[in-house]
Amino acid sequence: MQAILLTATGSPDVLVPGEVPAPRPQAGELLIRTEAIPVLFPETMLRSGAFPLPVQFPIVFGTQAAGVVIEAGAGADTTLLGQRVLVSSNTFGTYAEQVSVPAQIAVRIPDNLSSVDAAAVTMSASVALPLLETAKLTGTETVLIEAAGTGVGAYLTQLAKEFGAARVIATAGDPEKAEQARGFGADVVIDHSVPDWTNHLRETLGGATLDVVFDSIGGESALALLDLMTPLRGRMLGYGFLSGTAAQVSTMDLIMRGLTFIGCSGPDWLAGVAAARREALERAAAGSITPLVDRVLPLDQAAQAHRLLADRVAKGTVVLTPANP
Ligand SMILES: NC(=O)c1ccc[n+]([C@@H]2O[C@H](COP(=O)([O-])OP(=O)(O)OC[C@H]3O[C@@H](n4cnc5c(N)ncnc54)[C@H](OP(=O)(O)O)[C@@H]3O)[C@@H](O)[C@H]2O)c1
Repeated sequence: MQAILLTATGSPDVLVPGEVPAPRPQAGELLIRTEAIPVLFPETMLRSGAFPLPVQFPIVFGTQAAGVVIEAGAGADTTLLGQRVLVSSNTFGTYAEQVSVPAQIAVRIPDNLSSVDAAAVTMSASVALPLLETAKLTGTETVLIEAAGTGVGAYLTQLAKEFGAARVIATAGDPEKAEQARGFGADVVIDHSVPDWTNHLRETLGGATLDVVFDSIGGESALALLDLMTPLRGRMLGYGFLSGTAAQVSTMDLIMRGLTFIGCSGPDWLAGVAAARREALERAAAGSITPLVDRVLPLDQAAQAHRLLADRVAKGTVVLTPANP
């Protein structure tokens, strides 16, 4: 079968198309014929070497796929045979025409949701849902959603008012993405591509404060934001490091302002994300969230897809499709 091999960590060129034997489903596994494979921001970090990747190269890369269950290994639930499912693999292998995964991680895709839309929505929306639940918004609060034009930020923006935000301030670094954030319900959008964007935010707030910050940028801007947050009640939920470093915030910074920093990563957090996948797919099928697809490319264009993300060109999820779906 055709697959995309990660040959080393580095630039997108380390992703190389190749022919490999199709996997066989082991006991408890389902074999999936892939139809739509999302290219995800965290995968770009793994590919580049920014996150540790304890594997022997080459490996078939990729962490999620939507496709049809074509075989069940011994003891695996056979009721999903012939059904479309979304799978998320801890051991890679989804940038391929077929992937075999433990049956319990397969989530059925509702009939009225395409595989491309399911692939586009799943990761980001299933992160946004636990973030909003963790924030415990009260119905009167002002929230800041960073990088709201695409990915997790876009689904946070779509859902924030339903989960109790009164005012949504978003950030984006590109006019089209800013427009998308407005379309998804942001009341104001700040340009985070200018170095002093937190000062612009201060002017926009005009003396009001931020009750909740969904921080995906991290780095030094996180520290500057603390002075714009509501003392004693403000919560910063840190879930990403788009700037290249985690939020540069010390416990003393928080103590002196009476603020809370909530870390949203690690194994227990990711278990909550996995549990939210079904709701993400059901919401997309019901129309309560809108999938954001940038473009669909052939599987052998995986390196180009990674370039689009690295260059911040993608206005939604780039989805790969195998030649023989
Ligand atoms: N904790 C978790 O469970 C979890 C799960 C998934 C993702 N994440 C993290 O959350 C963050 C966002 O992921 P995502 O999938 O939502 O991202 P994404 O939408 O695929 O892309 C990131 C967006 O952020 C903006 N951006 C700002 N600074 C950037 C930079 N230095 N490099 C590239 N893009 C930058 C870009 O928009 P502009 O052009 O508007 O700047 C880009 O569209 C990442 O750090 C990711 O690793 C965390």
